[in-house]
Amino acid sequence: MDFRFSEEHEMMRRMVQDFAQKEIAPFVPVMEETEQFPRHIVKKMGETGLMGIPVPEEWGGAGADFISYILAIHEISKVSATVGVILSVHTSVGTNPILYFGSDEQKRKYLPKLASGEYLGAFALTEPQAGSDAGNIRTTAVRKGDEYILNGNKVFITNGGEADVYITFAVTDPSQGRRGISAFIVEKDTPGFIVGKKEKKMGLFGSNTTELIFDNARVPAENLLGQEGIGFKIAMANLDYGRIGIAAQALGIAEAAVQYATDYAKERKQFGQPIIKQQAVAFKLADMATRAEAARLLVYRAAFLRSRGLACGMEASMAKKFASDAAMINATEAVQIFGGYGYTREYPVERLFRDAKVTQIYEGTTQIQHIVIAKHLLST
Ligand code: CAA
Repeated sequence: MDFRFSEEHEMMRRMVQDFAQKEIAPFVPVMEETEQFPRHIVKKMGETGLMGIPVPEEWGGAGADFISYILAIHEISKVSATVGVILSVHTSVGTNPILYFGSDEQKRKYLPKLASGEYLGAFALTEPQAGSDAGNIRTTAVRKGDEYILNGNKVFITNGGEADVYITFAVTDPSQGRRGISAFIVEKDTPGFIVGKKEKKMGLFGSNTTELIFDNARVPAENLLGQEGIGFKIAMANLDYGRIGIAAQALGIAEAAVQYATDYAKERKQFGQPIIKQQAVAFKLADMATRAEAARLLVYRAAFLRSRGLACGMEASMAKKFASDAAMINATEAVQIFGGYGYTREYPVERLFRDAKVTQIYEGTTQIQHIVIAKHLLST
């Protein structure tokens, strides 16, 4: 047992902290005010190798391990959960399906561009009637010659409208249920592919969430990932890893809440002393710090298993469930400690509060994580 990061991981951590302070922090108020997508930050993340951390060097990536990738999302999300989710979705579910299931041809064509940040990735699974019940998608893909014709609608797609490549799930054989789902690499310029309405969200301002419309979209047959019928497995396998990324994003929020609330409680005086001297506040902070630490252990344990190539589906769901709850509770407590100031947009804790909520919803709700964990318990 060794709970310390290696020297390599420490270097990664310092590099990302520095990047987040210099390049991301100044743009957070702009995103909050205008909801502008941080395209220039994505470009800079590409230049620094952050857009392809776990992609092997032979495919243009940094060739670092999964822990390094999780470190990056964790540190970035302390500063901006928006940039955290852009990176997480791009890597875990936008790039990795090609890395793990793509042909050499597909890897050669897409991975260097995704890893350098020239292309941004997205994941198009969810549909209006298929959220938690992801196996119930209705988008169809019918093979015609050397193309598949896709028809249907996707909703709540992170990086929608900004991404260049969408890992898209569609039914190729309706008689086979989940085993009739296939995955495709869809490029943004595909004829019949339309970006629909952009959602106005509670938080994560700057992160685009849109509808996608496939209206006889003509996708080259060579863009089928793996073979027909394994799409649901591709989705589930990549969500296992993706959930560790979202857990790291939530961990960043949970820790930021502890930091902001502690700093404030040391400064803010009431009844003649800093409010941290009030047991009611100090105990809240103690609970918040403990919650964040427990989340940290779960997140890095799941990341450790993943980086060793060991099974981590249950641990990923545990980390995601616990860290997202920790983010929500800590952000709520931070607002409480800030009092009236916490309810204003002048202080960052109301942003943490709004950003935390969705970590309990996307990439599988907390209730879906319960199902996954319980299924693992049942099968052991
Ligand atoms: N890895 C590989 N295969 C898996 C798997 C995994 N982790 N989990 C399930 N499978 C396989 C099963 O082995 C089974 O295969 P066979 O058909 O060969 O037997 C098949 O998938 C079906 O499995 P289940 O019967 O368990 O499937 P289910 O329909 O009961 O669904 C579920 C299980 C866990 C509820 C799943 O539907 C689920 O995860 N739902 C949540 C969806 C979700 O997370 N959506 C997130 C959208 S993306 C997003 O949010 C990105 C973003 O914007 C931030």
